[in-house]
Amino acid sequence: MDSNVANVESEGFPHAARKNLNIIIVGASLGGLAIALALKRMPSPHAHNITLLERNPTALLHNQGAGIVAGGDTLKFFERYNKCNRDVAARSGRRQYLDQNGKVVHYEDVRQNMTSWDLVYHMLRANVDGVKSAYCEVPDEDKDDGRVKHLHGHKVTGLKEKEDKMVVNYEASDGNEGEMEADLVIGADGPSSTVRSLLAPQVERKYAGYVALRGTVQEDEASPEAREAFCERFVFSHSKGIQILAYLIPGVNGTLEPGKRLINFVYYTNFPSPSLEDPSPEFCELMTDIHGQYHHITMPPGMMNPKAWEKQRKIAKEKLAPQFAEVVCATKKPFVQAVTDVIAPTNEFMNGRVILIGDALAGFRPHTVASTSQACFDAMILADMIEGKVSRKDWKEQTLGFARTIHKRGVDMGERSQHQDLPLEEHIHDRNVASTPREQEVWPEWAISDVL
Ligand SMILES: Cc1cc2nc3c(=O)[nH]c(=O)nc-3n(C[C@H](O)[C@H](O)[C@H](O)COP(=O)(O)OP(=O)(O)OC[C@H]3O[C@@H](n4cnc5c(N)ncnc54)[C@H](O)[C@@H]3O)c2cc1C
Ligand SMILES: *[C@@H]1O[C@H](CO)[C@@H](O)[C@H](O)[C@H]1NC(C)=O
Ligand SMILES: *[C@@H]1O[C@H](CO)[C@@H](O)[C@H](O)[C@H]1NC(C)=O
Ligand SMILES: *[C@@H]1O[C@H](CO)[C@@H](O)[C@H](O)[C@H]1NC(C)=O
Repeated sequence: MDSNVANVESEGFPHAARKNLNIIIVGASLGGLAIALALKRMPSPHAHNITLLERNPTALLHNQGAGIVAGGDTLKFFERYNKCNRDVAARSGRRQYLDQNGKVVHYEDVRQNMTSWDLVYHMLRANVDGVKSAYCEVPDEDKDDGRVKHLHGHKVTGLKEKEDKMVVNYEASDGNEGEMEADLVIGADGPSSTVRSLLAPQVERKYAGYVALRGTVQEDEASPEAREAFCERFVFSHSKGIQILAYLIPGVNGTLEPGKRLINFVYYTNFPSPSLEDPSPEFCELMTDIHGQYHHITMPPGMMNPKAWEKQRKIAKEKLAPQFAEVVCATKKPFVQAVTDVIAPTNEFMNGRVILIGDALAGFRPHTVASTSQACFDAMILADMIEGKVSRKDWKEQTLGFARTIHKRGVDMGERSQHQDLPLEEHIHDRNVASTPREQEVWPEWAISDVL
């Protein structure tokens, strides 16, 4: 037996206790980067050889410029692995609810940490592969760190077994095709995961019947009324079929300077459509960009057809509290995200040689504010399992428990807020449920009963 492979039988996991694995990570957004960093920082004698394959043709992913609620697992991940000397989040000390006239009808003093997709991305890149940016300095490499190679323009197209290894096929953006071998393949390729579709082709990503309109306005460009409502606050408002929230996030280049932070909104609105493949005329108009191209899930920032956006601004002025209407109307580069549901039946395939994490495992509705936390949680516990600190059974129970519980919660919350006329108290209840730290969760029986 290879001296590298100590207690393979103990857990039934093919890689238990191996110290230098060849690992391929498919997808290099937040989930892929998080697991790359956790594996890279695994203490000596572990020194893995990690390759990130990202299909995006450019070296950096495009910033969508939007907010992320930094939940407990995200913060814990950064505490554990980040070596950039800066704060990852802006803070809020109060959650409040506005009525349609903009009056505060309820508040609670709750602390919350909010960040931006681009700040998290650049901090991860600085730590993972030393990418310089205006967001943070690049930390020094440690001699015990594993090796990481980030390859953009590599789209994974196939997977096969070859003895005890996996072979990954890819198409490079220069048109060439190639293959690479690995001991372990981690699918961090998002809610429309290729890895998942190769191994569990029956899983579908379904449209939930509504979209999130999103955008930001710099603090110092907002009126005193809007600043008063949103600065260092986490703010909600709702009326029939509409739900909007706003909070402050880091600004350009990750700045936390007052005045330069961004007011970020997420505005849910119903857009009935039979499915993503067979869109209704209204949905089609919303999702067709200035160049006439239809986007079935995300309309990127700055690409919306001005006519479709004008309709939404008009509705915002009629239906939203004035502070919310102001930020929606003032946003220069709105974007749209169709709300979808997707979850894989399991997270390991090929006897543990292929593992799904993050959105590839379960793509949540945004109400749960848990996608980045899931990616961070999945990364931490997978690294612990590979290091031998967590058993395969616990790893699987906890990751699938998280995915199933939060997935179901997102569906329940979305259905109630978009399709039922709820009184304020129930919305408050939903919100509190949304941000319950995962550590306080007790997985319900149905979430884990068929895990193993
Ligand atoms: C560009 C971008 C901007 C985002 N902006 C926000 C935001 O502002 N706010 C927010 O809350 N969430 C945002 N998200 C979603 C958020 O990042 C995710 O919920 C979180 O990163 C965890 O998801 P993930 O990394 O598992 O999957 P994703 O973030 O979906 O990333 C999947 C990655 O895999 C790559 N990929 C897919 N298929 C293949 C393939 N076949 N081969 C190789 N690579 C592949 C994709 O290009 C992508 O980079 C954004 C995602 C992306 C990709
Ligand atoms: C946000 O961060 C602060 C300071 O780091 C911390 O005290 C607080 O508990 C965090 N809140 C949440 C909800 O994670
Ligand atoms: C942000 O950083 C870039 C360099 O990456 C710089 O060109 C730009 O001026 C910075 N913008 C602000 C507002 O700081
Ligand atoms: C590192 O892993 C990649 C992909 O699995 C592989 O192509 C490369 O040969 C490996 N390098 C070493 C030194 O093992």
